Amino acid sequence: MAGVGADALHKPLGLLAELTHRCPLGCPYCSNPLALDAREDELDAATWDRIFREAAALGVLQVHLSGGEPGARRDLVDIAAAAHAAGLYTNLITSAVGISDKTLDALAAAGLDHVQISIQDADASSADRIAGYDGAFARKRALAAAVVRLGLPLTVNAVVHRANIERIGEIVDLALALGASRVEIAHVQYYGWALKNRALLMPTPEQVERAAALVDELRARHRGRIVIDAVVPDYYARYPKPCVGGWGRRSLNVTPAGRVLPCHAAESIAGLEFWSVREHSLVDIWTSSPAFNAFRGTDFLPEPCRSCERREIDFGGCRCQAFALTGDARATDPVCQLSPHHGLVEELAAVQEDRSYSYRRM
Ligand code: SF4
Ligand code: FES
Repeated sequence: MAGVGADALHKPLGLLAELTHRCPLGCPYCSNPLALDAREDELDAATWDRIFREAAALGVLQVHLSGGEPGARRDLVDIAAAAHAAGLYTNLITSAVGISDKTLDALAAAGLDHVQISIQDADASSADRIAGYDGAFARKRALAAAVVRLGLPLTVNAVVHRANIERIGEIVDLALALGASRVEIAHVQYYGWALKNRALLMPTPEQVERAAALVDELRARHRGRIVIDAVVPDYYARYPKPCVGGWGRRSLNVTPAGRVLPCHAAESIAGLEFWSVREHSLVDIWTSSPAFNAFRGTDFLPEPCRSCERREIDFGGCRCQAFALTGDARATDPVCQLSPHHGLVEELAAVQEDRSYSYRRM
């Protein structure tokens, strides 16, 4: 598809700003690509300032300052101030390791609106083992307390998998104790590093069933005290998720080096051409870049999506997963029970191994 008029398109609402791929932690399900951007290729703060102003003009309301660990950037406070000055609701997504209390104070003064802290488990030694970093858990508790003291809203994000899925109750209790208003129970999504570690992370069907029942119970028990976000993990779902709200429809992701992607894992799809903010404006990229136009809408979808009444609900699922499992990014996401490749998902979910993780390292 050639360039599309900006008016004919949906407006993006959210921008994921990956400020750096550097991170002291080594989570084996990290959503960063296997080929990480080097420090010397990172965009400078002035370029981020321009990106935020262009994003706001394009309709973006929310920016997520993410990484890697955004605290690895010495100019993080300047970058957050620029996002705030552009009129964006500014959320910091952090591992907590690398954000000192002093930096947090400066971020709050710069206009930061919200903090999301990832936790690896409710059990300290298991959490540090999964993160591949001794002492990470204690630092998370300390930063969460500082966030709440400053009056900033806090979300706890916990990625769950075979090693911690039995402790969802304790994870929700921890989020409550930390003063979070929301806890996200996010099952591992199998791209990049997680795909490499899939057999080590994959929960059993019994674990998934128990977890789903427990989440229902916890929601009822804690209604009004904390919001619990959770969805059925991909490989055990009947239908796929509307990944990123539809390709090129609601969000964009800028990598540390400036490539703009329709989703965080888009670079795992071979053959897509990504434009960079170094050469193009954000509006040009949103309307005309080949990668954004590759899977917009639903016209590209084959059967069974083409004649399925859910196609405007889930857009045929996740393009990155379709590519990872079938080699064809246009295919129906094999998570869908109607996909001709669905048997593959069932076979892969049954493969479980116990050995050391391949930690994500630069
Ligand atoms: Fe969604 Fe396609 Fe499955 Fe229908 S066939 S539920 S549109 S993935
Ligand atoms: Fe890329 Fe789902 S992660 S479309």
